[in-house]
Amino acid sequence: MTTVFSARGLTRIHRDGADQIVALADVDLDIEPGELVAVTGRSGCGKSTLLNLAGGLDQPTRGSVRVAGAELGSLRPDALAQMRRRHVGYVFQELNLLPTLTGIENVMLPLELDGIPTATARARAGEAIEAVDGSGFAARFPDQLSGGQRQRIAIARALVGTRTLILADEPTGALDEINGEAILRIIRTRCNEGAAALLVTHDPGQAAWADRVVRLRDGRVDAVTERSDPRAVLIATTR
Ligand SMILES: Nc1ncnc2c1ncn2[C@@H]1O[C@H](COP(=O)(O)OP(=O)(O)O)[C@@H](O)[C@H]1O
Ligand SMILES: [Mg+2]
Repeated sequence: MTTVFSARGLTRIHRDGADQIVALADVDLDIEPGELVAVTGRSGCGKSTLLNLAGGLDQPTRGSVRVAGAELGSLRPDALAQMRRRHVGYVFQELNLLPTLTGIENVMLPLELDGIPTATARARAGEAIEAVDGSGFAARFPDQLSGGQRQRIAIARALVGTRTLILADEPTGALDEINGEAILRIIRTRCNEGAAALLVTHDPGQAAWADRVVRLRDGRVDAVTERSDPRAVLIATTR
């Protein structure tokens, strides 16, 4: 089994004039297929920085990130972009759906950018949307969708195709509890099927869906809690 995600000595320092802001410091983290890892901690502790580095959206000052065996820092820009399209699903805090595309077209886009023919892309996007119970509204444009429906489309886009690493930064932020639980259930189910996920949340109820909870403090790993409670897995599989 290949470790899906591996960080070693991961450090990100921002420079602000003469000042240094240490956003992340010496983080080591491995995530295996099937694992859902929650990242918690106060605002400003480095959660989003960790996710951005994990997805290759930001580059570390020191240390390394490997995704599906490839060291991100060694990839040329086109290879990095391809790796992200094929292996990494990212759910942003601000969703980033394209307003001029319908729901299903938003989900098809990463596949089409990867050279997959439209008919195949449409079929795979349809499956991803089915998995989030979104088929009834997939033909609508983002501004015709509720917050919860938009969130489901964004999740489908993150899960479509062969993605093995799901990165979600407070993905239930704008949702009520019921919709929020539906999103967690979808991510948990995908992990039970073999993906790995890194989920930023400050809700202990959401962290309860994780196999492991990593708490950050001032950019460092402050505590790691292994969860042996199989309830989250059971709930997810009796959907
Ligand atoms: N581009 C940047 N320039 C300067 N400081 C930044 C930048 N991005 C993040 N930071 C700082 O790094 C720290 C960690 O930020 P972040 O990862 O966004 O925290 P979190 O997501 O846990 O709230 C914070 O102190 C933040 O102000
Ligand atoms: Mg953040």
